[in-house]
Amino acid sequence: MNKKVIPYKNSTDSKKNQVAEMFNNIAKKYDFLNHFLSMGIDKLWRNKVISLLKKYQPKTILDIATGTGDLAITALKLNPDKIIGIDISIGMLKIGKDKIKKKGLENIIELLEGDSENIQFPNHSYDAAIVAFGVRNFENLQMGLSEIHRVLKPGSPFIVLEFSKPGKFPIKQVYNFYFTNILPFVGKLFSKDNSAYTYLPQSVNAFPEGNDFVEELKKTGFRTVKENRLSFGIASIYLAEK
Ligand SMILES: C[S@@+](CC[C@H](N)C(=O)[O-])C[C@H]1O[C@@H](n2cnc3c(N)ncnc32)[C@H](O)[C@@H]1O
Repeated sequence: MNKKVIPYKNSTDSKKNQVAEMFNNIAKKYDFLNHFLSMGIDKLWRNKVISLLKKYQPKTILDIATGTGDLAITALKLNPDKIIGIDISIGMLKIGKDKIKKKGLENIIELLEGDSENIQFPNHSYDAAIVAFGVRNFENLQMGLSEIHRVLKPGSPFIVLEFSKPGKFPIKQVYNFYFTNILPFVGKLFSKDNSAYTYLPQSVNAFPEGNDFVEELKKTGFRTVKENRLSFGIASIYLAEK
């Protein structure tokens, strides 16, 4: 079971509200810090997610926890008719919407306020669902996965990109040092949010990665779940089909 890690230790608010507040706080710096702290590798990982979708040729794609819309924008490579991104953070969505407007993509990509644990779309409405660095933040993982399963058409793919923990020497040691010392320090400096980049390694630590996450997906009803570890296990991609 997912241990509940929350961003603001002294707050009694729900995890969901705290997560939304945290992403609202860091929204303006999110894209910069993402690319800076990952040294640009996050872009390669997003490309990998989209390349795995190619064979399905999805026409309608749901990007859950879309944030500032980077994965939704990468999904344009698949030439779909429509990409919908949903997120609980208004601040993140605002940055994403501005980006999409600037690129003139509003007719294909639409970003909406929406909660993965109570998705506003009917059953069987999407050809594919994707989520990058989102599932770890869900308040109720099973509820979120079940809702995603519900809105997908039968046989459709669901791809999750999420941080995982490298297990081998010396990457494990270097990664642990970077993730628990350098990243929170730099993140705090730029984002001005004291907790966000401490919550990041803590939430990764508490997340049921690898086989445990594969089991969570199967429990929800997904089949043919495959795990693909990236960059020495720093991140993982899970491909499942409804
Ligand atoms: C680390 S960001 C990832 C954003 C984007 N997918 C990316 O790859 O850059 C995590 C996002 O998950 C969103 N989120 C967390 N819980 C959510 C939920 N229950 N429903 C929808 N979005 C959620 C947060 O608001 C935040 O924007």
